[in-house]
Amino acid sequence: MSDETIASDELASTESEISTETDPDSDTDTDTDSTMVNHTARDDERATATAGFETDESTVGETIIESREISVWYDDNQALTDITMQVPEHGVTAMIGPSGCGKSTFLRCINRMNDLIDAARVEGELALAGKNVYDPDVDPVALRRRVGMVFQKPNPFPKSIYDNVAYGLEIQGVDGDHDEIVENALRKAALWDEVSDRLDENGLELSGGQQQRLCIARAIAADPEVLLMDEPASALDPVATSKIEDLIEELSQEYTVVIVTHNMQQAARISDKTAVFLTGGELVEFDDTQKIFENPEHQRVEDYITGKFG
Ligand SMILES: Nc1ncnc2c1ncn2[C@@H]1O[C@H](COP(=O)(O)OP(=O)(O)OP(=O)(O)O)[C@@H](O)[C@H]1O
Ligand SMILES: [Mg+2]
Repeated sequence: MSDETIASDELASTESEISTETDPDSDTDTDTDSTMVNHTARDDERATATAGFETDESTVGETIIESREISVWYDDNQALTDITMQVPEHGVTAMIGPSGCGKSTFLRCINRMNDLIDAARVEGELALAGKNVYDPDVDPVALRRRVGMVFQKPNPFPKSIYDNVAYGLEIQGVDGDHDEIVENALRKAALWDEVSDRLDENGLELSGGQQQRLCIARAIAADPEVLLMDEPASALDPVATSKIEDLIEELSQEYTVVIVTHNMQQAARISDKTAVFLTGGELVEFDDTQKIFENPEHQRVEDYITGKFG
C-alpha cells in the first residue's frame, strides 16, 4: 500500500521526522504571536463555573491543558468563542453539547489538527504543560505524538494488526524493541488477548470494536501524554461500547483523556470533569461531572442534560 492512501489526518501525526520537543517548563513564555485579548467580565463568570475544579483535590491532578480565550473561525463562520478552561492531568474530561457546537473543533485545537483545514483560523492560546502549542517554535507533528487522537469511525490502515501499531514507530525512527512496544500497546488497549496469535492478519478484518481498540493501541504506541477521543464508541454496539468505556477508565490512570460524547450516561459514567458546550460555540459550564449532572449552575445546562433541547 502506498502512503498516499493513508488518511491524511492520521498520517499528519506520523509522517515527518522528529523535531525539537517543546519545552514544558516555559510557562512564562510571553513571546507569543498568538492573539491574546484582555480578560473580560465574562472571565469572572467563568471563574464561578470552574471554582469547583480548583478546590477539588481528590480527583484532579495539575492542569495539563489550559485553553485561554480560544476562538475558531471557518472562513467567516465562528465555531468557538473565547473558550477558557483548564483540563487536569490524568482522569477523563468529557465534552458534551448539541451537534455543531464546536466540540470536535475544540479537540482539534489541542493537537493543532485544525491546521490541516484550510478554512480554519484559531485565535487565543492553548497551553500543553504550560507551553502554548501555537507558539511558532512548536512543531505540530511532534505535538501530535504527545497528543494522540482516536476518531468516531475506527480507521485502521489496510495493513497487518502488527503494522497498524508499529507504523508510527518505523516512520519516526523510534529506537527500542518494536515487538515489545507493539505488545505493550495492544495490552494497554485490552486487545492483546484477542489478537496475539494473528498479528499478521489485516487490521480491517477485526470487528468494529476491535478496530477501535487497535486505533487506541496505535495512539498509545507513540507514547502520548494526552489522548483525544471524538465519540470513540458511537459507532459500536453496547458490548463493544462497554469495553471501550472500561478501557478509557483504565487508560486515564496513565494518560489524560479528553473525550467528546453525545451519550450523557457515558459522560456521567466515565468522566471526572465535564465541559458543556452549547450552540454558538460557547463553553457554558465546566465542572466536576457530578456537579454538572446533579446541580448545574446554568439553566441552559440543566435543560440540555435533561433533554429539554439539543
Ligand atoms: N472543516 C470544516 N469546514 C467548515 N466548517 C466546519 C468544519 N468543521 C466544522 N465546521 C463548522 O464548525 C461548527 C462546529 O463544528 P464541530 O464539528 O466542531 O461541532 P461538533 O460539536 O463536533 O458537532 P457534532 O456533535 O455534530 O460532531 C459547525 O457549524 C460546523 O459546520
Ligand atoms: Mg464532532
